[in-house]
Amino acid sequence: MCGIVGFVGRQQAAPILLDGLSKLEYRGYDSAGVAVVSPDGGIEVRKAKGRLQVLSDLIHGGADMDGRIGIGHTRWATHGAPSDVNSHPHVSEGGKFAVIHNGIIENYVEIKEFLIRQGVHFQSETDTEVVAQLLEFYYNECRDFFEAVGRVLRRIEGAYALGMLCADCPDRIIAARKDAPLLLGYGEGENFIASDVTALLKYTRDVAYMEDGEVAVLTTEGIKVFDALQQPVEKERHHVDWEAAAAEKGGYPHFMLKEIFEQPEALRRAISPRLKDGRIVFDDMKLTPERIRALSRVFIVACGSSYHVGMLGKYTLEHLTRRSVEVCLASEFRYADPIVDGNTLVIVISQSGETLDTMAALREAKARGAYVLSIVNVVGSSIARESDDVLYTWAGPEIAVATTKAYSTQLAVLDMLGLAFGEALGTVDAAEYAETVRELEKLPEKLETVLAHHEDIQKYAAEHFNHNSIFFIGRNLDYALGLEGSLKLKEISYIHSEAYASGELKHGTISLIEEGTLVVALGTYGKLFDKAMSNVVEVKARGAEVLALTTESRREERQKTVPNVLAVPDTADMLLPSLGVVPLQLFAYYVALQRGCDIDKPRNLAKSVTVE
Ligand code: AGP
Ligand code: GLU
Repeated sequence: MCGIVGFVGRQQAAPILLDGLSKLEYRGYDSAGVAVVSPDGGIEVRKAKGRLQVLSDLIHGGADMDGRIGIGHTRWATHGAPSDVNSHPHVSEGGKFAVIHNGIIENYVEIKEFLIRQGVHFQSETDTEVVAQLLEFYYNECRDFFEAVGRVLRRIEGAYALGMLCADCPDRIIAARKDAPLLLGYGEGENFIASDVTALLKYTRDVAYMEDGEVAVLTTEGIKVFDALQQPVEKERHHVDWEAAAAEKGGYPHFMLKEIFEQPEALRRAISPRLKDGRIVFDDMKLTPERIRALSRVFIVACGSSYHVGMLGKYTLEHLTRRSVEVCLASEFRYADPIVDGNTLVIVISQSGETLDTMAALREAKARGAYVLSIVNVVGSSIARESDDVLYTWAGPEIAVATTKAYSTQLAVLDMLGLAFGEALGTVDAAEYAETVRELEKLPEKLETVLAHHEDIQKYAAEHFNHNSIFFIGRNLDYALGLEGSLKLKEISYIHSEAYASGELKHGTISLIEEGTLVVALGTYGKLFDKAMSNVVEVKARGAEVLALTTESRREERQKTVPNVLAVPDTADMLLPSLGVVPLQLFAYYVALQRGCDIDKPRNLAKSVTVE
């Protein structure tokens, strides 16, 4: 999703803005632009469709633009095609205001028509331009930048993170936020705004998260924040202890590969602090055993890969707690008139903590009285802050659009939550609990052995990257795992792929299997191994080429029917997908590599989807 950076200080702004935007490239974008307040008055804007490098070349790395105050933007188009003119910043007709925006102004048509009637001429097709034009319209009435911003915010509807410059107030940036991420960075004689902290790590680690309705005024002296009623707000500052290197590739060709290989370490961080003397302990959870026992319904709500974690969570939570669990896509939950009351728990899963659909579902759940517990990676993100309880995954910054280490850590945390709930409810078998806890401890190490065999997968991918369509089949946990394997492949290799519950295949989809179709047959879940085998035989009989995934103890047996077998170490049933997902991530990665795809920044995708 779009990236926002703003700088006020004593150094030349444009190179800092370009550098900050480069750290936000991973979010996905189609054009970029910067605006600075020129020393000789006026606002200078440069923008271009395409990669940030195009803009950087245009302004010689920023050297061409003087000015110590500026705003920069990478756009992920929602209204109007990606083009130079639709790129941000947008400038008002009189040239007094420049605006960058992340989100959607929902009532822009009405405002645009109003302004056109007042004689304003628009340049672009974007919703954002109405903000710049409306600012100038109100400013012409009140001659006060801050007041004009207030009037604009009262008039616009929708979601926004905004950075605004005014040529008449050359010492400041004004920023505003509603339903889109924006944070403030505090430096020595310089201050920043950014969509996320990775843009700022080089300059400051002292940040504050803007809340909905807040407006911030940034000068070299400091940052003043006001609430929606224009009353001053004291912001709580947070120190970010991520290493800047955590957001660099560290010798790997892609962030995705680096993050795949970081999974053992990420799992250690997610698991170890929560294991004490053979028991799962969530010191960071407020939900009490009494409250858990009083729960009447449990929902898991998320999008994309986080939803796939929820699918796995349904199987394990229902097994461990003997309570029914509903898994919902956040975008559907919100409008489904869900049956939620004061005894409902809604578990929200999100890497970024900023996904708008998930955020909206969370608010819907809270409005209906539910207790919201979120599993989130980005500390201090909107979802984390608005939940009643938050369990962090501690995976560290995830930069590649295709999630890997966040998925694995979400899964581990959800598995542990299931065990803790099962214990509180007295529904989990003591031997299974003890065995799963022992296996959780060994999980990072076992994952290392899976990674050690990455070359086998690379070799297989090198021979099979040219398929037009790839199916993933499996039952139960393996079915949910297949959904993730299929999404990974689609996202980064652009190969059409579907995941099916193996038993469902013969009810329609098997008609698509023909000579040479690649079927990835997932059979890690021991209890259903034989059934899964029958489905493999069915597709083979129709000419499918099969790649099988199973556990070490079944490798030989599987090889009797399928020559190509990948195997992961055996472990407790519910932890199998944590190991099984890794070969699927690597398969997607190496296939995409063979096909020459832009792995970390796949087409049309954004890292965090902050529009509906
Ligand atoms: C995963 O590879 C995707 N890029 C995407 O499906 C993602 O999981 C989804 O957008 C949810 O994001 P979140 O976890 O940050 O809320
Ligand atoms: N809606 C705006 C546009 O299309 C902003 C999109 C974004 O968040 O990048 O220009």
